[in-house]
Amino acid sequence: MIGIFDSGIGGLTVMRALMEQIPGYDIIYFGDTARTPYGTKSPETVIRYALENTDFLLKKGAKIIVMACNTASSIATERVVEKYKFPIFEVITPAVELSLKSSKKLSIGVIGTRATIQSGIYEKKLLEINPDARVYSTACPLLVPLVEEGWLKKPVTSMVVKKYLHPLKTRQIDTLILGCTHYPLLKKIIQNKIGKRVNIIDSSAGVAEKVKDFLKTNKDIENKLSKNGKFSLFVSDITPQFEKTAKAVLKRNVKLEKV
Ligand code: DGL
Repeated sequence: MIGIFDSGIGGLTVMRALMEQIPGYDIIYFGDTARTPYGTKSPETVIRYALENTDFLLKKGAKIIVMACNTASSIATERVVEKYKFPIFEVITPAVELSLKSSKKLSIGVIGTRATIQSGIYEKKLLEINPDARVYSTACPLLVPLVEEGWLKKPVTSMVVKKYLHPLKTRQIDTLILGCTHYPLLKKIIQNKIGKRVNIIDSSAGVAEKVKDFLKTNKDIENKLSKNGKFSLFVSDITPQFEKTAKAVLKRNVKLEKV
């Protein structure tokens, strides 16, 4: 099984990308709905949650782990990789690589939760690969609650997106990294507000690509993964909103199990 975790619902966009790019693999998802959001928590807490979530998925039989949460990926990757001898995928590196490939002017915007932006991880990784890049980051803390509320098309959401993107627009970025699991669900609004010429990088597609490449070249691990096209969704708290959004994101009926 491929194990995925997120602080809640947003990681389903990563699960959807995996189902599209490598269909057939069994997937186990854990959404930490009781402890969400992670984006407002301290690094120590996010690390503890990430270790606990990884533990849970491995005990359930996952052979590889995808940390779908940008906040956890930003803060806890080192500790998770250090502790577990399993292939661990995070969502930052794929987005960084994709954005550098796509950007002609090397003027790159990053949006994410406060914790992700404060960690400075995107900037660090972008500049490590290309020191000429100019990186402009903005935390967008109100976007997660708006998505969780299901307000994907409300005028208020458009207004908030516009306000957050304004500083990036004035910098004339040509590429924008969606550094949060929830933002792909607002992609249309974001594209509309930042302008058609800006290329939007969605880390969910990037990480699915990484997993796909890894499985092609690591047959010993690929052979260990079950392939019955099944998926199971575990959450730490069941909410009607999660169920509704999960159905909408995955475009199929879902059954949630509480742990
Ligand atoms: N999953 C988180 C992320 O990608 C967003 C929600 C939260 O703050 O927990 O950063």
